[in-house]
Amino acid sequence: MNILVAGGAGFIGSHFVRHMLKEHPDANVTCMDKLTYAGNITSLKEPLCDGRFSFVRGDICNAALTEEVFAEGRFDVAVNFAAESHVDRSIASPREFSATNLMGTQTLLDACLKHGVRFHQVSTDEVYGDLPAGSALKFTEESALRPSSPYSASKAAADLMVLAYCRTFGLKATVSRSANNYGARQFPEKLIPVAVICARRNRRVPLFGDGSNERDWISAEDHCRAIDTILQKGACGEVYNVGADSVCANIDMVRRILALTGRPESLIDFVCDRKGHDRRYALDCSKLRALGWEPLVPFGEGIAATVRWYEDNDGWVDDILSGAYMLKNIRVPPGGRVSGGKTS
Ligand SMILES: NC(=O)c1ccc[n+]([C@@H]2O[C@H](COP(=O)([O-])OP(=O)(O)OC[C@H]3O[C@@H](n4cnc5c(N)ncnc54)[C@H](O)[C@@H]3O)[C@@H](O)[C@H]2O)c1
Repeated sequence: MNILVAGGAGFIGSHFVRHMLKEHPDANVTCMDKLTYAGNITSLKEPLCDGRFSFVRGDICNAALTEEVFAEGRFDVAVNFAAESHVDRSIASPREFSATNLMGTQTLLDACLKHGVRFHQVSTDEVYGDLPAGSALKFTEESALRPSSPYSASKAAADLMVLAYCRTFGLKATVSRSANNYGARQFPEKLIPVAVICARRNRRVPLFGDGSNERDWISAEDHCRAIDTILQKGACGEVYNVGADSVCANIDMVRRILALTGRPESLIDFVCDRKGHDRRYALDCSKLRALGWEPLVPFGEGIAATVRWYEDNDGWVDDILSGAYMLKNIRVPPGGRVSGGKTS
């Protein structure tokens, strides 16, 4: 089985590359990633030791390079994690989000159609908009799409384009909409890595508004297992919600992290709220559970393991913050390729 993982040098994609190499001995995995500020080859250190893995530095908006990669790769499946993923950046600079998240996805859809490749789009629960604070409601796959930010609007547009390619061209494709992920190797601009890194350095931990906004959390490993389940058992043309029923207010998440790092709550710095800030997310995942998937990582254990990972990996934090796109002696220029097993 030959798999393309677009955006595999980012947070969740780097877990998915590892998952596929570990769980599928017959899998050859190619990662195509632009290496934006959020992606780093350092996050693929172990896969790069595996002869079944290869890396191409490339932009999914570049149709000519994408065609080359598809022609060489003879893929059975393509999974798209590549995205501009930070809501605050989408408020400051929305245009890049439409380019990568919608047009880049469409470039992959065209390549999949041409080469007969099964496609999976990794999307987000944020496409549904938000729920009232404290409500017991949950979004199902049939809920209306009411995205609040340019980020979630661009993801919703891409979801609709995928489904349109299924209906109009008969493309074999699925979409998953996941809750917020936690785990190793998340770029330190999102709540959990920011809180851990600030706490460890005894710096103030910024928290939007009064911290009462609620997020539904899932470990990146459970999310990757869900995508694998959808690839194996999901029906083409369908959407699947992916969550672990772990809704937590942002302030409670930060308090938990401060306790785990042994720092006082006085480090919390309440900052001006995000524009259009979603109040609450919660997902009904019965459609995915009917395929036999369930989350395996208990919330408390998963968060504690995540905090330990950042404590043990200062080197990764330094590399990714300095934007050093290199691993040992490997530098990858745009369009450049690295084969796994050539490094150790
Ligand atoms: N992080 C979450 O909590 C979460 C939750 C639900 C869904 N998602 C979705 O999962 C996917 C991955 O999220 P993440 O948190 O790992 O994001 P991330 O920002 O950590 O990684 C994104 C990756 O995509 C790459 N990339 C960006 N633009 C590209 C382009 N034009 N061409 C090729 N590569 C490009 C980046 O270099 C990076 O490696 C995204 O599509 C996101 O919308 C994320």
